[in-house]
Amino acid sequence: MNSKTVESIGVLTSGGDAPGMNPCIRAVVRTALSKDLRVIGIREGYTGLVQGDMRRLQARDVGGILQGGGTMLGTARCPEFKTKKGQREAIRNLHEANIDTLVVIGGDGSMRGARVLAEEGIPVVGLPGSIDNDMWGTNMSIGTDTAMNTIQDAIDKLKDTASSHRRAFIIETMGRNCGYLAIMAGLVGGAEMVLIPEQEVTVEEVAESVEASYKRGKTHAIIIVAEGASVRATELSDKLNELDVGFKTRVTILGHIQRGGRPSAFDRLLATRLGVAAVEHILEGSSDIMLGLEGRDIVPVPLEEVVSKNRPADLHYYEMCRMLAY
Ligand code: ADP
Ligand code: F6P
Repeated sequence: MNSKTVESIGVLTSGGDAPGMNPCIRAVVRTALSKDLRVIGIREGYTGLVQGDMRRLQARDVGGILQGGGTMLGTARCPEFKTKKGQREAIRNLHEANIDTLVVIGGDGSMRGARVLAEEGIPVVGLPGSIDNDMWGTNMSIGTDTAMNTIQDAIDKLKDTASSHRRAFIIETMGRNCGYLAIMAGLVGGAEMVLIPEQEVTVEEVAESVEASYKRGKTHAIIIVAEGASVRATELSDKLNELDVGFKTRVTILGHIQRGGRPSAFDRLLATRLGVAAVEHILEGSSDIMLGLEGRDIVPVPLEEVVSKNRPADLHYYEMCRMLAY
């Protein structure tokens, strides 16, 4: 609990950007201003905190950003903030700017950073923003739905050309440590196979399954490979060609396209609800929490819990995908 009267809040976006961060910033800023709080926007995540790169935000500063991808505050990965020296600088700058509570919008790494500040006595509220949807404490993170729509659109297009040429397409999605995007992409895109970091599959097993699809008369095969899977997309493509599975292969690495674009309606709503709730919780004296989506509700989860647990992979959906690929 934060017993001090809150007059001023800071807000930053950190880690990988995610579509919906802008609507979230807008909601934080305008809710805070409506409660007569001062709002300070911090540039480029923890880098701006360490370097003191921050400025006051007014209602007009967040006008016209609702529909835009990326983040108007900028974001960064900041190795310096992982050091004691960087953290001391950040805390000094927070005090100098008279920031009473900090709102951190970002992924699991950003929440670990927020937890460090909370342990040093800085009131912090975290909001989950990451296309990976790999965070403990929320069903959905800001940006995941938009990324899923981008992936779905790409698979639909690739399927057209794959079917026309009777080819197998190997499509790499993001997700360094987590197969969420790949599994769900497999379901919404109707993939024949999905390779994820959480489930070991050999190249021979993939080859067998793709060849079986060919023999069943399929006109294409779509294989989704998460970035963090044990086999990389290009390596898998070369091996499948060597093993001669019927289809010739092509590779598409979706890469950072998945991180951009106009936030979907779902992401705008989630981001807006989280941003408003963050300020409400701050005014009620809450801190050292992340807000997440549970069922239909926005709920607080202790930051300590968020950073100490990993979200398990949805292997039920993985199996579902395999079953439907027949
Ligand atoms: P994301 O938030 O998208 O998961 P990162 O893992 O890169 O992205 O984390 C974003 C930033 O959060 C890092 O660059 C670093 O500044 C900060 N951070 C991550 N882990 C820690 C940690 N253990 N201690 C302090 N700061 C951290
Ligand atoms: O954490 C989000 C994410 O998009 C991961 O899926 C991906 O591995 C990583 O960021 C890429 O990071 P960068 O933008 O630093 O290349």
